[in-house]
Amino acid sequence: MVDTAAGNGARGLDEEAVVARLRAAGCVFAEDEARLLLEAAAAGPSLESLVLRRTAGEPLEQVLGWAAFDGLRLVVEPRVFVPRRRTELLVRLADAALAGAVPADAAPVLVELCCGVGAVAVALLRRRPLLDVVAADLDPVAVRCARRNLGERATVVGGDLFAELPARLRGRVDVLIANAPYVPTAAIATMPSEARLHESVLALDGGADGLDLHRRIAAGAAEWLSPTGTLLIETSERQAEATAALFAAAGLDVSVERDDDLDATAVSATWPPA
Ligand SMILES: C[S@@+](CC[C@H](N)C(=O)[O-])C[C@H]1O[C@@H](n2cnc3c(N)ncnc32)[C@H](O)[C@@H]1O
Repeated sequence: MVDTAAGNGARGLDEEAVVARLRAAGCVFAEDEARLLLEAAAAGPSLESLVLRRTAGEPLEQVLGWAAFDGLRLVVEPRVFVPRRRTELLVRLADAALAGAVPADAAPVLVELCCGVGAVAVALLRRRPLLDVVAADLDPVAVRCARRNLGERATVVGGDLFAELPARLRGRVDVLIANAPYVPTAAIATMPSEARLHESVLALDGGADGLDLHRRIAAGAAEWLSPTGTLLIETSERQAEATAALFAAAGLDVSVERDDDLDATAVSATWPPA
């Protein structure tokens, strides 16, 4: 995680000039962004370089080097997926599932697939420090960020979906979470430029119907989930029934969870009662 101590960046005229340049570039929250850029510049990089990157359209979080998620500042390097607020639904659902997962004296096992910078795992570890956490991502930059955010408290592996998970977790995962890419390939062209041009296509592209990764996770989950385990996967409102059907076809009981305030949708899947 990022050191949250704010710098004492020079204000005054500098700040006004930065606000004007951000506003001219179309930044809606120019005053807030200027304050954050000044704070970042106080820690080392030149203010001019930061302003140039932001006014050229790079996401604020990548310019600052951190993103706010669930009240935390998480390390975010250029090109990685910037955690979205809607993914806090996965945190809430996973926290509830973990509450009843195992006896209080045992460490529940949490796996985060497609972890990006590790946002969900970090937020859950903050709530439940005893969790046994393994996070995985295919993108080496995301893996590096997740390792920085999770530190010694989790294992972060680089690899395709389940491929590099430790064998000891087979059949033992209490909660398996994933915010895997789910944008249909053709829809990427219609995304805001901050995502389309500055986040890795690997983080966005879910294949022709957006469900390629969901299909593969549904096919692989049974091998890893414990008999009382819960799988939670983010999806879109439009794709929710199709995502749920994939996990139902894998033999799991499914429900669609929706949070209108966060504009967030997730599918929850568990084994049917024996
Ligand atoms: C939509 S981003 C979500 C990141 C993170 N879960 C979050 O919510 O902030 C999807 C992530 O999946 C990763 N990814 C894409 N294909 C993958 C695969 N086959 N195996 C593992 N990770 C993959 C990308 O690198 C990216 O970090």
